[in-house]
Amino acid sequence: SYLAELLLEKGYDVHGLVRRSSTGNNTANINHVKDQITFHYSDLTDAANLESIMLKVRPDEVYNLGAQSHVSVSYDCPTYTGDVNAIGVLKLLEAVKRLAKEKQVKFYQASTSELYGKVKETPQTENTPFYPRSPYAVAKMYGYWITVNYRESFNLFSCNGILFNHESPRRGPEFVTRKIVQGLFNAWMGDREPLRLGNLDALRDWGHAKDYVEAMYLLVQQDVSDDYVISSGEQHSVRDFCDMVADYIGIQIEWQGEGLDEVGIDMKTGQRLIEVSEEFYRPAEVNTLLGDCTKAKQTLNWVPKYSFKDLVHEMCKIEHNENYY
Ligand code: GDD
Repeated sequence: SYLAELLLEKGYDVHGLVRRSSTGNNTANINHVKDQITFHYSDLTDAANLESIMLKVRPDEVYNLGAQSHVSVSYDCPTYTGDVNAIGVLKLLEAVKRLAKEKQVKFYQASTSELYGKVKETPQTENTPFYPRSPYAVAKMYGYWITVNYRESFNLFSCNGILFNHESPRRGPEFVTRKIVQGLFNAWMGDREPLRLGNLDALRDWGHAKDYVEAMYLLVQQDVSDDYVISSGEQHSVRDFCDMVADYIGIQIEWQGEGLDEVGIDMKTGQRLIEVSEEFYRPAEVNTLLGDCTKAKQTLNWVPKYSFKDLVHEMCKIEHNENYY
């Protein structure tokens, strides 16, 4: 949705692909710009459909942000995740290749820091070897390499943004940042049920999605396609994220116990705010991610505007306004 806004601001004619749903209500994040976008029913698993849309719309730029994007869910739906996140990219590239015979078309692939998985070096750069740790990341690895391969084999403009975690108030509640913001606000409003989380020690490099779509756009405006890490260069744990949200609300969390027995207690009232549940642990965890985006900063002149604190505070502010006023 942030990318659509950015392109509309720049005067682009924006087209979007939509998966049909029987309830038709999964467009909350784009409702405010819906009238300015042309939608096409589609699905990354449907090659014929992708080619016919490509030849009809004849876009100058194609941004592939479509995916089964939840790492945990990829263990429940590994085949679907592979169909969409790996072979879906191939199908889209084939459609782009077909159109590229007639006109210039640039392709952007949303690659991910999950590719680094069990990290081989810290911080991670464009040259750090990959070690994916989930069906999601393994599928994304195919998407990454097929994008490189089509560039090298067919001289297509096809680039990868290797984006570290990017969050915003629009983040789905099943991802940890939004889940924490929602959960702690609910506790503040009187909910006595503790927020149940998985690995509190996981370290992530969190940035704001609004900054990261600027980088996507800049990648595509280059004369030569290439692959770039996009990251904040700062690392925080899930526990730090909880503390930062609590601080915004005016609660102080005291952490007690370890591992599955760890709990977060409201220091003032003694209320149990957070507990750890095995349910949210992953079969293979990505423990630590930290990006080095020197190449993007130097080549693209990309300048992120949000600090970690700005990001957390904006998420809290919107959660507060939407629910309680
Ligand atoms: N979702 C979730 N729920 N994660 C939890 C929880 C919980 O209750 N408790 C702890 N975590 C930990 C996860 O184990 C993980 O280490 C970390 O919090 C972040 O989890 P997510 O927010 O689900 O994001 P992710 O890092 O797995 O993946 C996101 O970022 C990638 C990199 O940009 C997704 O957006 C991916 O699609 C994306 O590729």
